[in-house]
Amino acid sequence: MNALELQGVGKEHEGTPPVQALRDVSLTVESGGFLAVTGPSGSGKSTLLAVAGTLERPTRGTVRVAGTAVQAMSDTELSGIRSTGLGFVFQQFHLLPTRSVLHNVADGLLYRGITAAERLERATEAVAAVGLDHRRTHRPGELSGGECQRTAIARAIVGEPALLLADEPTGNLDSATGREIFSVLGRLHERGTTILVVTHNDELARRTPRTVALRDGRIERDDRR
Ligand SMILES: Nc1ncnc2c1ncn2[C@@H]1O[C@H](COP(=O)(O)OP(=O)(O)OP(=O)(O)O)[C@@H](O)[C@H]1O
Ligand SMILES: [Mg+2]
Repeated sequence: MNALELQGVGKEHEGTPPVQALRDVSLTVESGGFLAVTGPSGSGKSTLLAVAGTLERPTRGTVRVAGTAVQAMSDTELSGIRSTGLGFVFQQFHLLPTRSVLHNVADGLLYRGITAAERLERATEAVAAVGLDHRRTHRPGELSGGECQRTAIARAIVGEPALLLADEPTGNLDSATGREIFSVLGRLHERGTTILVVTHNDELARRTPRTVALRDGRIERDDRR
């Protein structure tokens, strides 16, 4: 199955003149894939991630997440898809400062109709998967930037989404920590997580099996290694 299918996707932002952020983008991410999206600033990377993540509706074309066409869905249905089928990681970690690592991660399972005990059990596994076992009870203020981002990644994968979407997850980190975060993503990929990561860092992008380069809202290259 494909985790994500974009077909002829265009996205126009209103304004004078309007901006064509994406033009005729067709892209398939197979289940289990690990894809980096690169390109210069303004090339449409974040727009692609927002459209793939149903955060924005395309102006043209179709989007399928885990085989389901999303364009006819209501905003409520889309937020359901986002909470059960997609995981998000951004440059800012968006962690709750008063909650421990474990509880921040467990909160990724709210509104799933599962017990608090099960949420904590699954959060414990996700925290271990990103190598943060020893920091479970720490609060975000007691963590390094890399550890904060590992926590955010654990929260995004705890519900086992069909697709993990990450927009510049290393943007606030030094280069060694950025490499460490890509190693975490690589290990999650080996365990079966499907990942689309946006980065303007070509060295990090080369660590993934596939890189799609955007320019002016179009796919300029699609390299598989
Ligand atoms: N809400 C918006 N309204 C108008 N134009 C927008 C909006 N969001 C993005 N754009 C424009 O769409 C284009 C693509 O933006 P996008 O944020 O996708 O680029 P990006 O590749 O993520 O850039 P960066 O590397 O700087 O994050 C840019 O020209 C941007 O100015
Ligand atoms: Mg961006």
